[in-house]
Amino acid sequence: MRRKIVAGNWKMNGSKALAQTLVSDVQSQTASLDNGVEVVIIPPAIYVGDVVANAGGSLSVGVQNVGQWSSGAYTGEIAAEMAVDQGCQYALVGHSERRQLFGESDDVVAQKVGRVIGAGLHAVLCVGETLEEREAGRAESVVASQVKAGLAGVAKDQWQRVIVAYEPVWAIGTGKTATAQDAQAMHASLRQVLSEMGAPANEISLLYGGSVKADNAAALFAEPDIDGGLIGGASLVAEDFVSICRSVP
Ligand code: G3P
Repeated sequence: MRRKIVAGNWKMNGSKALAQTLVSDVQSQTASLDNGVEVVIIPPAIYVGDVVANAGGSLSVGVQNVGQWSSGAYTGEIAAEMAVDQGCQYALVGHSERRQLFGESDDVVAQKVGRVIGAGLHAVLCVGETLEEREAGRAESVVASQVKAGLAGVAKDQWQRVIVAYEPVWAIGTGKTATAQDAQAMHASLRQVLSEMGAPANEISLLYGGSVKADNAAALFAEPDIDGGLIGGASLVAEDFVSICRSVP
């Protein structure tokens, strides 16, 4: 059975106060959900300790990025082992904002996936096409190539630590969501790519991200190959985020 996951990526938003109030609210309102959803909070790294302290055992915590090295003279970076040390279970890798704004190549993304999995975290590999690529009919090939490159170094016994989040770049923070049908089609294609790579494709959780809100989550999560969501803006409001967590069937 694939795990159902709803993860909130705060990006560079939030505060110490939010890490206390929002996390406590989400924790208390999701702890008794009976839909089997695993709820993950992914704050800026500086607030991870506060979030862990308020997660109450029922929420998981992640980091938005790690360095591609284990430790050393890399000012400003954090290592995957440090995220584990602070109580994290997850790390995002290759978010489109990292790829676009920080120039992360597929090669760097693959190195980070290796570090994350090696440290014992679950890697959430983020992939997605730009509007230009979609309009040129290249969405599936772009996503397939990001998956193949990012997960090229995953060993046979490591696939249970891999999650893939499909986040079309044109849907991130824009209010434009992929239709449930388009998202499902991409997820089915992703599963096919994973299977061709020798991965246990039916056991890997595939999340959709990109303007997921309380009013469109249920339709997306009802699709057979969409196992949950990676939520940006709506994860900063407890009521909205909890409602999205409840939308998992
Ligand atoms: O990682 C989540 C993300 O990029 C989606 O952001 O604000 O469109 O939900 P948003």
